[in-house]
Amino acid sequence: MEFALLLASGAAAVPSWVLLAYLVAGVCFILALRGLSSPESSRRGNIYGMVGMAIAVATTLATHEIAGIGEILAAIGIGAIIGLTIARRIAMTAMPQLVAAFHSLVGMAAVLVAAAAFLNPGAFGILDAGGDILAVSRIEMALGAAIGAITFSGSVIAFAKLNGNMSGAPILLPMRHVINLGTVAAIVVMTGLYAMSPAAGPGEGALFWIICAAAFAVGFLLIIPIGGADMPVVVSMLNSYSGWAAAAMGFTLGNTAMIITGALVGSSGAILSYIMCRAMNRSFISVIAGGFGQDASSGDKGPAIDRPYKAGSAEDAAFLLGQADKVIIVPGYGMAVAQAQHVLKEMTDHLKAKGVEVKFAIHPVAGRMPGHMNVLLAEANVPYDEVFELEDINSEFAQADVAFVIGANDVTNPAAKTDKSSPIYGMPVLDVEKARTTLFIKRSMGGAGYAGVENELFFRDNTMMLLADAKKMVEEIVKALD
Ligand code: TAP
Repeated sequence: MEFALLLASGAAAVPSWVLLAYLVAGVCFILALRGLSSPESSRRGNIYGMVGMAIAVATTLATHEIAGIGEILAAIGIGAIIGLTIARRIAMTAMPQLVAAFHSLVGMAAVLVAAAAFLNPGAFGILDAGGDILAVSRIEMALGAAIGAITFSGSVIAFAKLNGNMSGAPILLPMRHVINLGTVAAIVVMTGLYAMSPAAGPGEGALFWIICAAAFAVGFLLIIPIGGADMPVVVSMLNSYSGWAAAAMGFTLGNTAMIITGALVGSSGAILSYIMCRAMNRSFISVIAGGFGQDASSGDKGPAIDRPYKAGSAEDAAFLLGQADKVIIVPGYGMAVAQAQHVLKEMTDHLKAKGVEVKFAIHPVAGRMPGHMNVLLAEANVPYDEVFELEDINSEFAQADVAFVIGANDVTNPAAKTDKSSPIYGMPVLDVEKARTTLFIKRSMGGAGYAGVENELFFRDNTMMLLADAKKMVEEIVKALD
């Protein structure tokens, strides 16, 4: 309905073929999102997204008076080379921080567009008959700049935490909720004042810049208290913010495609954040409000390495696996680090040839990005019908002979069920300890999971630790199974 109104309102000023082209681009983006919802159709989804973006960019370039098309093409060329180089070089394990870095660019772009419109409103066609910036445009600019600034500084902190430049532990300032809510309220009030202020009045320019500065501070304050296991939600939430910032700037620029794209990114990011919050048993409001409910006493408890545990060899593991009727494999971040998915697939083929039933159990936040494990297993040609989500397979561990945990830690940690002071408390976990034997592959007893908490399971009687790089260990197991 709103889109129809938008088309109708824009129809007078914009040729209908342009609106049609933007509509086709919008449909491509919707098909892209649909395609990306499953590994099987994700390539097709990416192609739809690229086609939609090419149509949107070409239409915008063809319909605007552009002073220096050469400069724009050069910028697109340089951006494309940088993007291609990054895409080729980036390790799968570094994708979350790359996504956070990209979100920061979208946020900064929104701030810069708003600043350009503020500094040269005539060029953006947002002046009224009296030569003042239209009130509605002031609101759009202030909102676009504020959401963009929050996205920028929040994404920079998320990048630093995910990339290890900053501790992943929550940084809890005293009175942080009061400070955060107060700053957001101040931004809303200042936006209202800015919308109403006479154009040439004293302080108008200052208000715009103060809104930007306050919003930069909010992004920083919102993300520093969020720690460990909640970072996935933060990344998808910042994705959503970047979409809303783009949509707000689409209004300022009068660009329908940007409004549609921004709204799609904003709403799909919000839905993904909500789904992830539900999967992790977190309150959506708590996470977006910046670490509500985090207890200052919880957090990093390093692993205790001086407790007795059972260590095994590849031969021991091969014996247990070969004797089993049913094996459930739990992949985690360590499998991604070691790039062990291909040899793991080889191992499952050996086991299936021996008549062992093999299934994969995927936790919603295993690895470092949504769908991380699904992508790696698909890359190794693991059949989709052997891969199960947590809620579909958790009850089967009790009937499994072996739970084979390869580079996963937090997603199996029972502290999430029992220890109220743990940062992962409340997150659903895979019940690997219910299998007759649980095998854990990790490199050392000293390395903790992402949340930095000790995993009690390593010291249980029915656990065997296989301490080695995941790829090397599975290669040796395959040899022993031969
Ligand atoms: P983690 O809890 O991070 O545990 C990874 C395990 O892999 C560690 O025990 C580590 O121990 C081991 N490891 C690392 N490199 C290895 C290698 N080369 N060979 C063998 N083992 C290796 O992983 P998880 O269980 O997948 O949990 C994911 C965590 O990341 C959750 O806390 C989640 O909230 C968080 N997170 C998730 C996302 C998304 S969206 N999925 C995004 C950001 C954060 P060693 O060092 O001793 O080897």
